Amino acid sequence: MSTTFQLDTSTSRANPTPQPMKRLTVPKIRARKSEGDSREPLVMLTAYTARQAQLLDAHCDMLLVGDSLGQVIYGLPSTVPVTLDMMVNHAAAVVRGSYHAVVVVDMPFGSYEGSKEKAFDSAARLLKESGAAAVKLEGGEQMAETVAFLNQRGIPVMGHVGLTPQAVNVLGGYMARGRDEAEAQKIIGDAKALDEAGAFAIVLEGVLEPIAVEATRAVACPTIGIGASAQCDGQVLVTEDMLGMFDRVPRFVKKYENIADVIEKTVAQYAEEVRGRAFPSSDQTYQPKG
Ligand code: KIV
Repeated sequence: MSTTFQLDTSTSRANPTPQPMKRLTVPKIRARKSEGDSREPLVMLTAYTARQAQLLDAHCDMLLVGDSLGQVIYGLPSTVPVTLDMMVNHAAAVVRGSYHAVVVVDMPFGSYEGSKEKAFDSAARLLKESGAAAVKLEGGEQMAETVAFLNQRGIPVMGHVGLTPQAVNVLGGYMARGRDEAEAQKIIGDAKALDEAGAFAIVLEGVLEPIAVEATRAVACPTIGIGASAQCDGQVLVTEDMLGMFDRVPRFVKKYENIADVIEKTVAQYAEEVRGRAFPSSDQTYQPKG
């Protein structure tokens, strides 16, 4: 049955019919692995807008308000220029559009690396102003103290290791990570450090498959793969990538649709009908009664 939405103008919230199930929680996500129930992998996709969240919500365990919105929504060259204000606004929209999935919001570059106190202030603002349930931050061992600090103060943290796009200026590009033994061991060590610090899940991005498998076995919390392995405890993709909004996508993306084609064809038809005065027709115009 498809879901319909009615706008409650007093809260600006679109209420769905039929009423969906209760929202999942961070402990439930973590428990999927700790209780030995990660046979069914966790499903996560990115979402940046309320309508997108409405469409994805029932199918996902988690919605990630990724800082990839810098490129996808704002046309920026990387995630580096993304601000806390952008993340707050998009996260609030996604929370308004969802009822079921745990909403996780990315901490943007520069909002958390300086000190654990700064990280707390940024994360607290993200959760207070958006209603999201958790934050995600990039980095391994060097961020473990911050992860523990936030977690102990009521902020659940998802880690992100391997290919960490905010570090593009240090890494020099978006290549897969862990091609030599030292780097492979560093990624596994990073995952373990975040796990011990209390991360409730860890994204493994762009790592060689054996590293993803070993890291998944080595940590108690669920791993969420992107360009990693089907053996991870869950998977995430950027929604616009898997829908086929862009011609060029990373090798690890499977395009399930070609939405860009659908949009192009539809807009071309609209333009033709406007120019030929076929739109609007009598179906779309108001006539005097009687
Ligand atoms: O920003 C993002 O969308 C992400 C995912 C690709 C994991 O971090």
